[in-house]
Amino acid sequence: MLKSDFLIIGSGIAGLTYGLDVCKYGKVTILCKDEPGEGNTTYAQGGIAAVTSCNDSIESHVNDTLTAGAGLCDKTVVQTVIEESGSAINFLLDLGVNFDLTKNSGKDKKQDFSQNFSLGKEGGHSERRILHAGDQTGREIQNALLKKVRAEKNITIVPMRMAIDLIINSNNECLGVYCLNLNTNEAETYGAKITYLATGGLGKVYLYTSNPDVATGDGIAIAKRAGALIKDMEFIQFHPTCLYSPVAKNFLITEAIRGEGAILKTVSGARFMDGYHPLKELAPRDIVARAIDHQLKISGEDYVLLDITDKSEEYLKERFPNIFKVLMNLGINISKDGIPVVPAAHYSCGGVAVDKYGLTSIKNLYAGGEVSRTGLHGANRLASNSLLEAVVYARISAAHSLEKIESIKAPDALPEWDHLDTDNSYEQVLVTHSWDEVRRTMWNLVGIVRNTKRLESAHRRLLFIKEEINQYYWKYRITKDLLELRNIIDTSLEIVEAALLRKESVGLHYLESDIKK
Ligand code: FUM
Repeated sequence: MLKSDFLIIGSGIAGLTYGLDVCKYGKVTILCKDEPGEGNTTYAQGGIAAVTSCNDSIESHVNDTLTAGAGLCDKTVVQTVIEESGSAINFLLDLGVNFDLTKNSGKDKKQDFSQNFSLGKEGGHSERRILHAGDQTGREIQNALLKKVRAEKNITIVPMRMAIDLIINSNNECLGVYCLNLNTNEAETYGAKITYLATGGLGKVYLYTSNPDVATGDGIAIAKRAGALIKDMEFIQFHPTCLYSPVAKNFLITEAIRGEGAILKTVSGARFMDGYHPLKELAPRDIVARAIDHQLKISGEDYVLLDITDKSEEYLKERFPNIFKVLMNLGINISKDGIPVVPAAHYSCGGVAVDKYGLTSIKNLYAGGEVSRTGLHGANRLASNSLLEAVVYARISAAHSLEKIESIKAPDALPEWDHLDTDNSYEQVLVTHSWDEVRRTMWNLVGIVRNTKRLESAHRRLLFIKEEINQYYWKYRITKDLLELRNIIDTSLEIVEAALLRKESVGLHYLESDIKK
């Protein structure tokens, strides 16, 4: 068993921020499912919402967050997170994160926010308040965090380790985690006084997603199996504009591009958002996603077009350098051509329920970032609030952990992972078939627009697949594919069961009237 004071599962913005804040006081181990930093943080394009302009106010950002959340946000959490936004930005600036500045900005970014940052606008925000680094804000933050973490001698980063299950004792205390070493395919045991769950997102439970391959809802699934309280899982955010392409996988076209004037059109060139919301393309993203879904259903077409051709090539290359380059390589010059886009699963507003310190319902287990449910997002997340939430809550959890750590006893020897007498499976088809079936079921039956009949059908199918895979799981040696499959099934069931319980449309959970049986 490998022992630490603090065990962090996940290496995105939440996990690394927490690690940096606690590492002065103990030994920290960070388990990464892939190479460090492979996850949703790295691919975040738009930016981080914060009140840094004298034209803006905490009140306005709070109100926009509450409006997006459709009455289901925790108001105290919203107030705390937004009030802390300035200090979160200063934390990132101290790490060396370079947010884009206006042309005539001064030198001291921290003294006068308003003069300096080039602020973007996204759906649902009444002010320009999105700090960004071109269109690769997440990568900029991730790199700065990783650089700092790598320089800390108290932190050990362990790549290619996928969590199997949390280790919980009879007092409902978390003692660490069993994980699969993806290089050797052997199970390993990591014990810790405090475990911080920061496994990120779950987009891969859906057939179409903006998320990278690692986002298989692992944290939700392992926390659920450990008995943690999970909340708000019906609120899955679909991003309206992911690239529709037979070759490029999971490529997001940031909402910030609509903030700079891009409009949505049908393939035949008709602008359509006017018919759906007074804010048109800058309506909250659930409304834009449903409008596109509706247009596709009535036209039978595969995609709509996002048009930013009224901006010059020079401007677009500077403001959206990565999107410009990636699309140019696919033969699309965005200063001349419309971008084919479709909605795709993007973000989970629900997750492992945490209190005001980020503590879950299991002792000594904290959760942060997308896997957690703090109450900030309610029924719908305001764009670019998630990186902010991750930093603010990771720092709150770190401070709370440091108060508690002295009173927590290190776990004694933990039982080794025991997977009975399992064999290598001689065929993979059940696993690959079930992967596909789960993702299609979720996309077709638990998507942007739902009804009870489809949800019930999804539930029956998922329970059947779960039963089959459970038998397979205990019979054969575990593999990454099998663990991920088990996790996407458990996470999907959480989504469907939460959706079945909510009988009214609210925020991201949109019910059409049920088809008469
Ligand atoms: O459109 C975007 O860049 C996404 C932002 C977000 O999900 O917050």
